[in-house]
Amino acid sequence: MPLLEVENLQVHFRTPTGINRAVDGVSFHVDPGETLAIVGESGCGKSVTSMSMMRLIPEPPGKIAGSIRLEGRDILALSDREMRALRGNDISMIFQEPMTSLNPVLTVGRQIGETLRLHQGLDQAQAEARAVEMLTLVGIPEPGRRVREYPHQLSGGMRQRVMIA
Ligand SMILES: Nc1ncnc2c1ncn2[C@@H]1O[C@H](COP(=O)(O)OP(=O)(O)OP(=O)(O)O)[C@@H](O)[C@H]1O
Ligand SMILES: [Mg+2]
Repeated sequence: MPLLEVENLQVHFRTPTGINRAVDGVSFHVDPGETLAIVGESGCGKSVTSMSMMRLIPEPPGKIAGSIRLEGRDILALSDREMRALRGNDISMIFQEPMTSLNPVLTVGRQIGETLRLHQGLDQAQAEARAVEMLTLVGIPEPGRRVREYPHQLSGGMRQRVMIA
């Protein structure tokens, strides 16, 4: 069974000037251990396709149709609560723009820690220790110091690696 199976995905946005068919009939599957790259010109719908798999398309103005199955489960049919349990554990997304995805007024350690507390039930101290470990894993030097810094104090590449962490 494929790990992820997307069939005839359609994502449309209702805008003041009409319907934007951002994604119009996309199908693909990913097997366990496989890496799939989706390539295409700016605005062709790569991010919208990915956001659909995370169920992060705002409805309205968006409208999703088709099916997205993760290990056989239809993601589009899950309740919000079931989806929250999946997100950050079974399916995650590294967002494109770290400067808008990261909160400027919280340290990067707090933000990595928040994900761990919400999705894995760690307490504050465990989450902080794990955040340092994660920064080490993504190759950020002096993780113990960096974890206490704010996004604007990091380089663009480091911010992207914070998102991966
Ligand atoms: N919330 C929204 N409301 C209306 N239209 C949207 C919304 N989000 C995305 N779109 C439209 O969907 C289309 C696809 O956008 P998407 O962000 O998926 O492009 P992309 O392939 O990721 O581009 P890039 O390579 O620049 O990141 C675009 O026409 C965009 O304007
Ligand atoms: Mg994009």
